[in-house]
Amino acid sequence: MSPKKKVPESVRFTYGRQSWSYPVLTGTEGEKAVDITELRRDTGLVTLDPGFVNSGACLSDITFIDGEKGVLRHRGYAIEDLAEHCVFLEVAYLLIMGKLPDRKEWQSFSDLMNRHSMIHEDMRDFFLNYPEQAHPMAVLSAMVVSLSSFYPEIEQEDLKEPIDITVTRLLSKLRTIAAFSYKKSIGEPFVYPSRRLTYCENFLNMMFSSPVNDYWPDPVVVRALNLFLILHADHEQNCSTSVVRFVGSAGSSLYASIAAGICALWGPLHGGANQAVTEMLERILREDGGKVDRVIDRAKKKDPRARLMGFGHRIYKTYDPRARIAKETCMKLLARLGMQNDPVLQLAVELEEKALAEPYFQERALYPNVDFYTGIAYRAMGIPANMFTVLFALGRLPGWIAHWLENRRDPVQKIGRPRQVYNGPALRPFVPMDQR
Ligand code: SDX
Repeated sequence: MSPKKKVPESVRFTYGRQSWSYPVLTGTEGEKAVDITELRRDTGLVTLDPGFVNSGACLSDITFIDGEKGVLRHRGYAIEDLAEHCVFLEVAYLLIMGKLPDRKEWQSFSDLMNRHSMIHEDMRDFFLNYPEQAHPMAVLSAMVVSLSSFYPEIEQEDLKEPIDITVTRLLSKLRTIAAFSYKKSIGEPFVYPSRRLTYCENFLNMMFSSPVNDYWPDPVVVRALNLFLILHADHEQNCSTSVVRFVGSAGSSLYASIAAGICALWGPLHGGANQAVTEMLERILREDGGKVDRVIDRAKKKDPRARLMGFGHRIYKTYDPRARIAKETCMKLLARLGMQNDPVLQLAVELEEKALAEPYFQERALYPNVDFYTGIAYRAMGIPANMFTVLFALGRLPGWIAHWLENRRDPVQKIGRPRQVYNGPALRPFVPMDQR
């Protein structure tokens, strides 16, 4: 007897005296989605979903998150395995190419990264006109969109070939632009990338070396930085990645789309949270005498300005697996640097313990997210708070690129253009100014 044909799942939608059936899609890990592509054509109705809490934008092969179980995988690999066994650029290659590189692929990718690590000398002058207090995220976004002026061919790029110049140029130059924006902010001369250094060694050297300071990156700091960048490499349809996909859906270039993603990430509710966490902890030490109870009480009062930064997540309703690795790496790094008694770290651990014991946080499944400990580690590395979100952007860049490419190559994708429900005034006669 032939096997019973599996009837595809569907959802029945009844409105008035009519009903329609819509297919239910099942993802690799069993997630379910009702495909409402034909809803408005059939029923005249649209859906309303502020913040897209319940709405999927696409099918994606890049990252899987199970928010209830605290699972994060990139192209099928668990974040714990990638964090333990890879360097950041290997994960970048995996996200963009869909596979981990073999020895030959790794060598050619590394050579490309090195070849494109410098920025055009004319771009250096752009930095000179920024005030010292310019936020590095503003500089980063402006510089990325300016890259298209130096590489006009990007507008015609269809990016068919594998890890191509455009992608590698951006991956390599963003790190240089980030370090240059820091040097600009402290009035020190730029330090150029070196072919003798790895990706993270180069970044740290460009940040901390100077004509009067023979700096050599500490291998423990380099390892920690690789880990933190891996933890930030991708996170499916988060706000900034959705912006990159959205801008790319209009046919905008990769550089223009990434510049927009950088601006979205800057927000304190998103990537700006790592800077906000450290500022919150330092404020508690300075103004609340290190007492976390008042901060927790204020956070429970719903004042948006009093939210516990680094806590809560739209998807994770348990401990963010990245936060677990970030905490462990942060503790090891600070111990290695002789800062195990750092008051900010101790306060963070106490705040986490107390918040997790609070019914308010338990009822809402609010746990530390990736931003809670990363800023403490970056601070220990000597990186200033206004550079923390820049490091988030460096980490997230391969994820943004992978999603931009996936969206561009998806045959069903079209320009993003959500619907709305109009709630404004009905038609009314025009009134000339003298009669208003
Ligand atoms: C990132 O999407 C991603 O994947 C993002 C990210 C990535 O890798 O790209 O993981 C990176 O952005 C991490 C999040 C960094 N942001 C912060 O740490 C800022 C503080 N966190 C929150 O503002 C908040 O938790 C969000 C923005 C992260 C998530 O917000 P949601 O999903 O919109 O949840 P919500 O605002 O509707 O809150 C649900 C409830 C509310 O209470 P009730 O109205 O139900 O009574 O929880 C409360 C909120 O008031 N709440 C908090 C809180 N976060 C949520 N209360 C106090 N402190 C908090 N941090």
